[in-house]
Amino acid sequence: MFKHDKIERNSILLLILTVIVISIGGLVEITPLFRIETTIEKVDGMRPYTPLELAGSKIYKREGCYGCHSQQVRVLRDEVERYGHYSLAAESMYDYPFQWGSKRTGPDLARVGSKYSDQWHVRHLINPRDVVPESIMPGYKFLTERDAAISGIADDMEVLRKIGVPYSDEMIQNAVSDSLLQASSERDSAALIARYGKKINARDFDGNPNKVSEMDALVAYLQTLGTFVDFVKFDHVIKQENKK
Ligand code: HEC
Repeated sequence: MFKHDKIERNSILLLILTVIVISIGGLVEITPLFRIETTIEKVDGMRPYTPLELAGSKIYKREGCYGCHSQQVRVLRDEVERYGHYSLAAESMYDYPFQWGSKRTGPDLARVGSKYSDQWHVRHLINPRDVVPESIMPGYKFLTERDAAISGIADDMEVLRKIGVPYSDEMIQNAVSDSLLQASSERDSAALIARYGKKINARDFDGNPNKVSEMDALVAYLQTLGTFVDFVKFDHVIKQENKK
């Protein structure tokens, strides 16, 4: 029989046993997190954001776009039909913090990349009602006037590298020149492609070649969303695995 009265009368023993029981609960919850990377499916195509896109993602967070937009297509038929392939964990693996969100005053943006032209985005961000008359989204005209903060972006890349985003020394050293390159339509973007791969949009996003504005950065970021993973290939692999 359990001598429960003994435990209850001896506070030190009670304390020790309590700590043991609580740590078991803790371990069960915490240990799986050490292997969290095994829960992210392996997919082709994911790459870290370029410095310009990273600057854009910071503007997205600064302006609180996540307050009205989610970035996660759920595994539900209506969502998949409206937005496209459901989101994979791997698609957010370089987002710190991830932008899944829970509030949808506006549509989900996980797959908005290359859905519209740059001009559409610029007009929409300046005054949403110019392109969607019934829109209640606020305008962000000032983004066209402000310079994107690309001079400090190398520091952000350095920090992201510390928590696992695979930025190379070369990428960090060339952060400013890569941003200028990506936001211009005239220069040769071969160096950028060599560093970040073929799925790069390099052009003058905001239609103003004289400066790299916050609008350039934000549109460059929006145009990448959901475009990295090749889903025809991914679905093929999943089908093969299910057959096994
Ligand atoms: C107050 C809520 C609100 C905020 C804040 C907001 N949006 Fe929106 N957004 C909407 C609504 C509502 C729509 C749908 C109507 C429209 O297209 O304008 C929308 C539509 C969009 C679309 C078009 C999506 C599609 O698939 O048609 C994009 C892109 C977008 N927003 C980007 C942004 C960005 C970037 C920010 C931050 C700078 C932002 N939004 C902030 C409410 C918001």
